[in-house]
Amino acid sequence: MIKKNNLKPAKLIKYYNLINFNLIYNNKAINRYIKDNFEISADKVNNLEKLKKSIQNINNCSLKDNAKNMVFSDGNPKSKIMLIGEAPGANEDEEGLPFVGRAGVLLDKMLSAINLNRGKVYISNIINYRPPENRKPTDEEIQRYLPFITKHIEIINPKILVLLGSTAMNALIGSEVVISKMRGKWIEKKFGNCKTSVIITFHPAFLMRQPAQKKMAWIDLKLIRDKKI
Ligand code: URA
Repeated sequence: MIKKNNLKPAKLIKYYNLINFNLIYNNKAINRYIKDNFEISADKVNNLEKLKKSIQNINNCSLKDNAKNMVFSDGNPKSKIMLIGEAPGANEDEEGLPFVGRAGVLLDKMLSAINLNRGKVYISNIINYRPPENRKPTDEEIQRYLPFITKHIEIINPKILVLLGSTAMNALIGSEVVISKMRGKWIEKKFGNCKTSVIITFHPAFLMRQPAQKKMAWIDLKLIRDKKI
């Protein structure tokens, strides 16, 4: 073991270079109270803000005109796991956050079953404004919002992209595919510069109507839990 007090200045500099002192001396204070690391790059913050503004600036959209709030996202923008649902419902429209109603309660339980929570994932929807009466978004509405969710994926740059239900699947993978055949397998896909592993699973609202399908969703959740990222 070298005793650094015994070294001359020139040797001391050599010694610090050798042990890569940058790793030891860092002028940033350590915040020992932060559990989940929400610190994100300025670029990501700016890009998310720009995207939010461009969605707010959409013109001639009856969804936007009838909604109380835009629903952009929830969770940790630094997460490597991004989840995408269909569109906000009444509770989401009220609060301006995705998955805060009954489907959201089930989604939180599904996440917790694989040791995840909203601080560890990032959540958004294909459509950012609530369709009236919670109807399914039309193809035209999906096409209108598709560039925004694609950009959103590119900015977050997740390693794993979880598509919840067939609206998200058909919008981002293709209209010809069916969820019963597509769920539960990894699909490598590129969204702009983002290369990601996509997995499709059932939407929590569907699982509330068809609880027998929860066993299939559990298989999908375990695939997510066990994926090396
Ligand atoms: N269903 C969705 O697809 N998204 C939400 O945010 C809420 C319910």
